[in-house]
Amino acid sequence: MVNVSIAYRIGDLLKPYAEAVNAALASALCDEAVPATLAEAMRYACLNGGKRLRPALVMLATEAVAEKDRRFADPLGAAVAVEMVHCYSLVHDDLPSMDDDTLRRGRETCHVKFGEAMAILTGDALLTRAFEILSDGFAEAGIALKLIRTLSAAAGPTGMVAGQVADMELCEVPSGDTGRRYIHLRKTAALLRGAVRMGGICAGASEAQLDALGEFGEKIGLAFQAADDLLDAVGSAGTIGKTPGKDAQTGKRTYAGELGIEQTRRLVTDLTNQAGIALEPFGPRAKKLQELTDLLAQRDR
Ligand code: IPE
Ligand code: IPE
Ligand code: MG
Ligand code: MG
Ligand code: MG
Repeated sequence: MVNVSIAYRIGDLLKPYAEAVNAALASALCDEAVPATLAEAMRYACLNGGKRLRPALVMLATEAVAEKDRRFADPLGAAVAVEMVHCYSLVHDDLPSMDDDTLRRGRETCHVKFGEAMAILTGDALLTRAFEILSDGFAEAGIALKLIRTLSAAAGPTGMVAGQVADMELCEVPSGDTGRRYIHLRKTAALLRGAVRMGGICAGASEAQLDALGEFGEKIGLAFQAADDLLDAVGSAGTIGKTPGKDAQTGKRTYAGELGIEQTRRLVTDLTNQAGIALEPFGPRAKKLQELTDLLAQRDR
């Protein structure tokens, strides 16, 4: 049984970041030049109660590196861009030719509501608009370029897309731990790693700080996907807002399926402990990031 109070505590910690990103997303998705149905589908895919973990990671990473008046740039635009890429990935992940899901964030998936062609195009539109926002939204071109480079590498054909290709068994993936790790590092951890590094870039982080943030993002990303797999196995539609049991039903190579519940729980604990160690160089400035890590460690309980 999932402990609902952990989900509430995560929501509580993320709330100020989620509110800021929700408002910025809503305004970024109000472009009258976009065809009306496409604009509606883009809003449907984004403004629908996601946890906003990735944008919060962008902003929390900025906080971990520098005080407000010592930052290179406001991370909000980067946070919006990351969430748009995440929402695009969910719309495509749910398509009939991929995971074939009908429930997302507690309501009909984008293709159920708007049809498959519009869902594909909605994903395309969110992905491309994310990079438009990054290229327009930063006064210093050097920062924009680094953010674009980081997000495109995280989301692209060696990052999230590679993970999705492997998850769908469209390429050869080794069996056992090596293959499982290959999939999860790319399909989920790559974007979380990219998000925290983008937060660091906005704060003017050094290479060493970006490496530490990257290490943190990778560990938390693996832990997050392992917990998502656990929730698919032990959660209910009411608590996860998705159809549970799909991974086992469709033979996905998940941690929960391949290692079992208890070993996967231990893995989540180990990974979140390692994530905490990666935060040590940031000292008390990373307190909230550490609190979030501690809560994510228990997300399935
Ligand atoms: C779901 O991500 C997809 C995964 C990579 C596991 P989230 O659990 O962050 O989904 P939302 O954004 O809160 O709906
Ligand atoms: C999602 O993995 C990875 C993405 C890139 C979207 P899942 O397929 O496990 O995510 P859910 O469970 O549908 O949210
Ligand atoms: Mg999937
Ligand atoms: Mg899925
Ligand atoms: Mg899942």
